[in-house]
Amino acid sequence: MVQISEVKDVQGRESRTAAHTHIKGLGLDEHGIAKKVEGGFVGQADAREACGITVDLIKYKKMSGKAILLAGAPGTGKTALALAISQELGPKVPFCPIVGSELFSAEIKKTSVLMENFRRAIGLRIKETKEVYEGEVIELTPEEAENPLGGYGKTISHVIVGLKTAKGTKNLRLDPSIYESIQKERISVGDVIYIEANTGAVKRVGRSDAYATEFDLEAEEYVPLPKGEVHKKKEIVQDVTLHDLDVANARPQGGQDVLSMMGQLLKPRKTEITDKLRSEVNKVVSKYIDQGVAELVPGVLFIDEVNMLDIECFTYLNRALESSIAPIVVLASNRGMTSIRGTDDETKAPHGCPRDLIDRLLIVKTLPYNQEEIKTIINKRASLEGLSVSQEALDSLSVHGINVSLRYALQLLAPAGILSKTAGRTEVTNEDVQECEVLFLDSRRSIKILEESKGYL
Ligand SMILES: Nc1ncnc2c1ncn2[C@@H]1O[C@H](COP(=O)(O)OP(=O)(O)OP(=O)(O)O)[C@@H](O)[C@H]1O
Ligand SMILES: [Mg+2]
Repeated sequence: MVQISEVKDVQGRESRTAAHTHIKGLGLDEHGIAKKVEGGFVGQADAREACGITVDLIKYKKMSGKAILLAGAPGTGKTALALAISQELGPKVPFCPIVGSELFSAEIKKTSVLMENFRRAIGLRIKETKEVYEGEVIELTPEEAENPLGGYGKTISHVIVGLKTAKGTKNLRLDPSIYESIQKERISVGDVIYIEANTGAVKRVGRSDAYATEFDLEAEEYVPLPKGEVHKKKEIVQDVTLHDLDVANARPQGGQDVLSMMGQLLKPRKTEITDKLRSEVNKVVSKYIDQGVAELVPGVLFIDEVNMLDIECFTYLNRALESSIAPIVVLASNRGMTSIRGTDDETKAPHGCPRDLIDRLLIVKTLPYNQEEIKTIINKRASLEGLSVSQEALDSLSVHGINVSLRYALQLLAPAGILSKTAGRTEVTNEDVQECEVLFLDSRRSIKILEESKGYL
């Protein structure tokens, strides 16, 4: 008897909260207009709509090599917007988020790190035609033999798998190693599977729909009986990034097909990825694209805190944006006029970016929130964290949101929840919030104390 229990994933997910857990997408309607409270996003309508247009451009592949700057005060949702863009794009489009300071490493040149991340953000969809055996399993019999090493145990010498398609059936005699992967995929009679002829990899496609009425399992995906012969050529689609290919080729080993290259991804990296190697990979990639085997999927490279980049990185960025295969670059900065890192004359530049880069950017601004919006955001967070908050407490939190910052207001929420729980209440009250204010300073008060007294807080 198979044990079936319901997966209560909602509970599990709600209890694990990070800063942006409540953000679920941009929340736009079918005309690209921002819905009032949708996808966890509150207010910031213009910026959300602008990001929605960006998502469309990316999907229609009209935006490669362009760059967008999200500019606005701290805590106005720039990082949240970038996250929402990645959610809207879905899992098939690469999204590579980095922070400006990540580029500075003692071992690797910063431009090289930048290049690596550029290539992480460019996907390649490869269609390969492979020789496979595909069909519905009608027989699955492991054949045992005496253990050749002696002893009492028996080993499996081979396994007989019968596969059926609309056109016919075939019995295959397979190696015991394939039987292991059949067991791992939990394949049983009635499943539709395919076996790759040259690697022996087994993949379960789903359950044959002839069995659809027998058990009514929601988790099961029913597929029709495959057409054509059992032994045939099948098109298999894989998504990789250019960086994956670089890494795989830095230590070439095993077969030349994509799967065996992918198999090397998890092994430790020893060989450096050189420019020469990258251009070799590029050559092969463009050959595949010309042949129609592969398709380029430009993704998004998100560089948060872009003012942390220095002038060398900026010039490199300019050039990289102009190369023939470039992702969409989304930058974020919370600075106004500030000096550019790495320049001696301390010239001030807008957002900490040089003018020639600013010239190439589309700038999206994020605006500060009003009290009503802050209240809604706090409310959303509260329900995510499983807290119920009294109206009074909500008001005083939102006042903090206006006077101090949205972040401070959001951060008070969790400790206030703990205080109310300790006091045995089910609702967070204004007293809890006030007690938290005393216990946890905000940035302004701490600065004020520091300025007035010399020394420590
Ligand atoms: N419009 C919004 N709707 C819901 N939540 C929001 C919204 N804007 C910001 N938040 C939340 O507020 C917090 C601060 O936002 P975020 O980190 O995106 O700000 P930021 O603009 O990146 O700030 P910084 O410039 O300091 O990096 C996050 O927890 C974020 O999820
Ligand atoms: Mg941020």
